[in-house]
Amino acid sequence: MRNLVRNVKISGTGSYVPETVYTNEYLETIVPTNSEWIYNNVGIKERRIASKYQATSDLAAIAGQRAIENAGLKNEDIELIIVATTTPDRKAPSTGAFVQHKLNAYNAAAFDLSAVCSGFLFGMSVASQYIASGVYNNVLVIGADTFSKITDWTKRDAIFFGDGAGAAILSSSNINEGFLAFRLYTDTTNEMLGFTIPGGGSEIPLNSNNLELQYFKMNGKAVFSSATQFLPKAINQVLEDAGLSISDIDYMIPHQPSIRILLKTAEQIGLPFEKVMTNMDKYANTSAGTIPILLDEINKAGKLKKGNNILFAAIGSGWTYGASIIKWG
Ligand SMILES: CC(C)(COP(=O)(O)OP(=O)(O)OC[C@H]1O[C@@H](n2cnc3c(N)ncnc32)[C@H](O)[C@@H]1OP(=O)(O)O)[C@@H](O)C(=O)NCCC(=O)NCCS
Repeated sequence: MRNLVRNVKISGTGSYVPETVYTNEYLETIVPTNSEWIYNNVGIKERRIASKYQATSDLAAIAGQRAIENAGLKNEDIELIIVATTTPDRKAPSTGAFVQHKLNAYNAAAFDLSAVCSGFLFGMSVASQYIASGVYNNVLVIGADTFSKITDWTKRDAIFFGDGAGAAILSSSNINEGFLAFRLYTDTTNEMLGFTIPGGGSEIPLNSNNLELQYFKMNGKAVFSSATQFLPKAINQVLEDAGLSISDIDYMIPHQPSIRILLKTAEQIGLPFEKVMTNMDKYANTSAGTIPILLDEINKAGKLKKGNNILFAAIGSGWTYGASIIKWG
C-alpha cells in the first residue's frame, strides 16, 4: 500500500435508528420462526424498523448531522458526502444528493457507493484517498439502510435485518494518528449471488407478475462460509500492512451479520471475544449501518482512548469484504 500523503482521522461520529422496535417475539407472530432460535443462532433480540414515511436519506441525514456536530464542524464545512447504501431513496437522484439537501450542506459534492454490507468500510477508504491527497479536508461518510423495505415479511429470513444509519467525519490530521491500513476485496468466484436482490434493476425490471423479486434472497450457509473464510484473510493482511500483531488491537468494530460468524472469526484470528464489539442484539444487521452505528455507540460511551488501535472488518454481497486499522486520536 502506498504511503498516505496526509494522515486521515475520524473527527466525529453520529447515528440514528428509528423508534419502532420489532422483537423476536413479535416476529414469531408474523413469520414462521422462533425467538430462541434467532437469539441462539444469530444473536439478535430485536431490531428497529423505519416508518413508511422514512426513506433511507431521512435516517442518513440525522446520523450525518450528529456526526458533524460531534466533530465541532458546521454543515458548510463538509466538502464531500458519501452515502453507502443498498436501499437508496430512488434510483435517481442519489441518496447522497437527498442528504446534501436535507443538511443544507451545499458546499459538498455527494454520491452513493454500492458495496452492500461492506459499504461503510469501502466509503471510508474512498474518503481517505481524497483527504490523503489533499483534495478535501472534511468528508462525511454515511452507512444507511432500510432493509425492512426490501424484506418479504411472510418468510423466516425476515429476522436478519433492521434499519439504521451511522456516520463519521473523516478529516486531515497532522499528528501521528489515524488510519494505518485499508484493504478492500471483491471475490465473485464462489456463489456471488448467495445474497441478492434479484429484481428492480436493468436485468429484471419489476412488473405486476414478479413483484416478489424486489425482496432480498439469502443463502445462509453461503454467507457463513464466505464470511468466515474472507474476514480472517483481510484482517491478517491489514495487521501485516500496519506492522501490528493481533495483541496490539484494543477493539474490533466489525459488521454485524451473526454472532456465530463473529465468534468463529475471533477464534480464527486469535482475538479474545471481549475485544469484539457487538450490538446486533438491539439492532440486528443494518447492512451499511452496522459499523458506524457501533462506532458511534462505543465512541459516545467514552471507551475509545487516544492511541487505541481499532480494527474494522466487513463482508457483504458480491462478496465484497475488507478490513482497516485506525490509531484513535
Ligand atoms: C442462518 C444460519 C444460522 C442457519 O444455519 P444453517 O445450519 O445453515 O441452517 P439451515 O438453513 O440449514 O436451517 C437449519 C434449521 O434451522 C432452523 N432455522 C433456519 N432459519 C430459521 C429461522 N429464520 N427461524 C427459525 N428457525 C430457523 C430450522 O429449524 C432449519 O431447519 P429446516 O430447514 O428443516 O426448517 C447460518 O446459515 C448463518 O448464520 N448464516 C449467516 C447468515 C447471515 O449472517 N446473514 C446476514 C448477512 S447477509
